[in-house]
Amino acid sequence: MPEADFVVVANRLPVDRVDGPNGEPGWRPSPGGLVTALDPVMKKSDGAWVGWPGQADLEVEPFEFGGTWLVPVALSEEEVASYYEGFSNDTIWPLYHDVIASPRYRRVWWDAYVKVNRRFAEAAAAAVSEGGTVWVQDYQLQLVPKMVRELRPDVTIGYFHHIPFPAYGLYSQLPWRRQVLEGLLGADVIGFQRVADAGNFARAVRRQLRYDTKATGIRVPQADGSSRLALAKAFPISIDTASYVALAKRPDVRARAAEIRESLGNPSKILLGVDRLDYTKGIQHRLKAYGELLADGTLKVEDVTLVQVASPSRERVQTYVELRDEIELTVSRINGDRDTMGHTAIRYLHQGYPREEMVALFLAADVMLVTALRDGMNLVAKEYVATRTDNRGVLILSEFAGAADELGTALRVNPHDIDTLKETIVSAVKMAPAEQGRRMRALRRKVIEHDVDAWSRDFLSALAAVHPVPKGNA
Ligand code: G6P
Repeated sequence: MPEADFVVVANRLPVDRVDGPNGEPGWRPSPGGLVTALDPVMKKSDGAWVGWPGQADLEVEPFEFGGTWLVPVALSEEEVASYYEGFSNDTIWPLYHDVIASPRYRRVWWDAYVKVNRRFAEAAAAAVSEGGTVWVQDYQLQLVPKMVRELRPDVTIGYFHHIPFPAYGLYSQLPWRRQVLEGLLGADVIGFQRVADAGNFARAVRRQLRYDTKATGIRVPQADGSSRLALAKAFPISIDTASYVALAKRPDVRARAAEIRESLGNPSKILLGVDRLDYTKGIQHRLKAYGELLADGTLKVEDVTLVQVASPSRERVQTYVELRDEIELTVSRINGDRDTMGHTAIRYLHQGYPREEMVALFLAADVMLVTALRDGMNLVAKEYVATRTDNRGVLILSEFAGAADELGTALRVNPHDIDTLKETIVSAVKMAPAEQGRRMRALRRKVIEHDVDAWSRDFLSALAAVHPVPKGNA
C-alpha cells in the first residue's frame, strides 16, 4: 500500500461487506454525506480511509476501492461489545446528548476504548506520508489525535466532532474527562457542529486543564516548555445538496412519491418522521403530540397520516432495546385506537431504505417532523429541504438540533412542550402555500449555499492555515 498524503480515520469504513451468491466476499459503497464530500479530496491527494469493516473478527488487508485505499481495522467480538457498544454508545453517546439516557461508566470499557483508539492511531500513522494530513472523525475516536501526534509529529491533524459537546456540568461526570480533552487537543483543528459545542469544549479545557483559551484559539503547552495553538471552532456539516436535488427531479422518483401517497389512501396531508431508532430523536414526544391530536378530534385519520421510518440501530445496547419496545407499544396503541379499514394513523417502518426511496418519501410528505431532544446537526432536516424543489412543504424543527442554528425559517419547537408541539403540527397542516413558499425558499437557499463540499473546504482550509504547507510542497 502506498503512503497517502490525506488520511481519514473514522469508526466505520465507507463500504459494507456483501458476500456474493457463491459466498465470495465483496464490498458495496455505503454512501453517506461524508464519503461524498471527501471523495474529490481523496482522489486528488492519494487518500486513504482507516476504519472498521463493520463486523466482528473480520481481518482484511488494505485494498483499493474506487480510487482510494481502504485500511480495515479489525475488532474482536469482545471489543465490539466494550469499545463500540459500551464506551462509545453507552457512555459517551448518552453523556454527550445531555444524559437523556443514563451513561454507564465502566472501567473495562474505558480500557478497551484506549486500546482500540491506539489501534486506529497506529494504522493512520502507518498510512500517512511525511508531512501529510490526518482527519479523525467523531466521538468513537477522541484519543486518536494525541496518539497520532505522538507517533507522527510531522503530520497535520484535524478532528471533527459530529455529535454535541455537552455543558461542563455534565461533561465533568466523565471519570476520564482529562484524558479525553488531552486526546482531542492532539489535533490542530477541532471542529464542532455549533458555536455552543465549541464553547462548551473550551470551557471544559479551561476548567480541567487550566489552559489559556482566547476566542477560538487554545494554547496547548508542550513538553519542551513551548506551546502550540489549537483551533476549536464550529464548522456545521451539511449534505450533498446537488445529488438530492437531482434525485428529486427524476421522473421515476416522482412517480414513486405519487405511488406512496396513493398507497396511503391519498390523505390530504402526510406527516413524516425519519430517524435512526434512537432515544435522542424525540420519537416518543412526536407520537404523544400526534396521538393526542387524533384523540381530541383536531386531526382525523381520514385526512392525515404519519409515516415514521425508524431505521434499526445499535440493537444490542439495552437502552435501544427498551426504546424499541416503548415506541412499538405506543404505535400499536394509537393505531389500534384510531385506524379505520381504509386509513392508518401511523405507518411505522422499522427498516432502512435506499436514497431513492427516501427522496420519494420526502416528496410525498407535506410536513417533516424533526423533534430531536438533542442532535449534533440532523441531516434529515437538510435532506427534506433540499428535495422540495417546488418550495412547498413545512419543516418542524427542534431547537435542540444543530440544524436549528442555520434553518431559521423552519417552524421551531421545544419537543418537551407537548401543547406547543401540537399547535405547531396543526399550523403546519394548515399553512397556506404562500407562507410555505416564503419559508421553504429561505431554507433551500441555506442548504444550496452551504453544502457538504463547502463544509469540508472550510475545515480543510482552516487546517491548512494552522499548519501552512511548507514552500515547495504546495
Ligand atoms: C451518528 C454518529 C456517527 C455514526 C452514526 C450511525 O450519526 O455521529 O458517527 O456512524 O450515528 O451510528 P453507528 O453506531 O451505526 O455507526
